[in-house]
Amino acid sequence: MGYQPDLTGRVAIVTGAGKGIGKAVALALASSGAKVVAASRTQEELDATADEIRSQAGEAAVIPTDLTKSDQIEALVEGTVASFGRIDILVNNAARSFFRPLMDLREDGFDKIFDTNVKGTFLLSRAAAKVMMKDGGGRIVNITSVAAERGGPMMGVYNASKAAVKMLTMCMATEWAPMNVLVNAVGPGMTRTHFSRPIWANPEIERQLVSRIPQGRLAETSDIVGAVLFLCSEGAAYITGQTIYVDGGGLANT
Ligand SMILES: NC(=O)c1ccc[n+]([C@@H]2O[C@H](COP(=O)([O-])OP(=O)(O)OC[C@H]3O[C@@H](n4cnc5c(N)ncnc54)[C@H](OP(=O)(O)O)[C@@H]3O)[C@@H](O)[C@H]2O)c1
Repeated sequence: MGYQPDLTGRVAIVTGAGKGIGKAVALALASSGAKVVAASRTQEELDATADEIRSQAGEAAVIPTDLTKSDQIEALVEGTVASFGRIDILVNNAARSFFRPLMDLREDGFDKIFDTNVKGTFLLSRAAAKVMMKDGGGRIVNITSVAAERGGPMMGVYNASKAAVKMLTMCMATEWAPMNVLVNAVGPGMTRTHFSRPIWANPEIERQLVSRIPQGRLAETSDIVGAVLFLCSEGAAYITGQTIYVDGGGLANT
């Protein structure tokens, strides 16, 4: 069993909780005692996450949400309050990208990436923070990426979106600290999920990636959850506006 702070009774929204890092975070928050609202577009995946939480005696609700639709973001916040009465934790994990050169990315591709990763994170954070402030405060954790810190081919607009979320994290932290809403980010390195499969599924590319990671391997989803839980815990009560990179030393090695 990994790191497990006491989050008994906290109410947490996790976006993209149907698979990958978001699912691992949702299960870990529930194991730490939080009531979890799982949100993304695919109901069946969210139901599977919620069933797994309930099978371990946890509490969960499912609210299908498309983060590019502001009315659905409002409905997620209202639905969470209707189900559990408050919001203590928001993990903005959902994101999307396209794997192609900048020259080939269509204009609507740019919009899909920024609408989901940046605008969705902003609108949901603001709506959830309003509820948190009313009840004495809360924690927001944005999942960014090592891509916020360095350029590279094939996902340029995604990298730009993650850099934008890093800056949004710092600005939301600055404005909302007086109301006790602490906003931080966790930036994973390459992690074995559906999202990154086109990259790590090629053994030659995987070998090149791993050769630059001091810890000598890619991340598993279980590697990412500890930093998220820490930022939601009492131990992080005086931390806001920061990004913790969980990357096996990759950024330190560039
Ligand atoms: N995997 C990596 O190597 C890696 C590295 C660094 C950072 N990250 C970051 O970690 C986070 C999770 O990535 P992952 O690898 O776990 O990806 P994943 O397995 O592809 O999961 C992405 C999640 O985002 C949801 N999502 C996408 N568009 C959405 C929308 N419009 N509305 C609501 N939900 C939406 C998806 O659900 P639906 O499609 O059902 O809506 C899915 O649950 C992302 O922020 C990603 O940028 C990943």
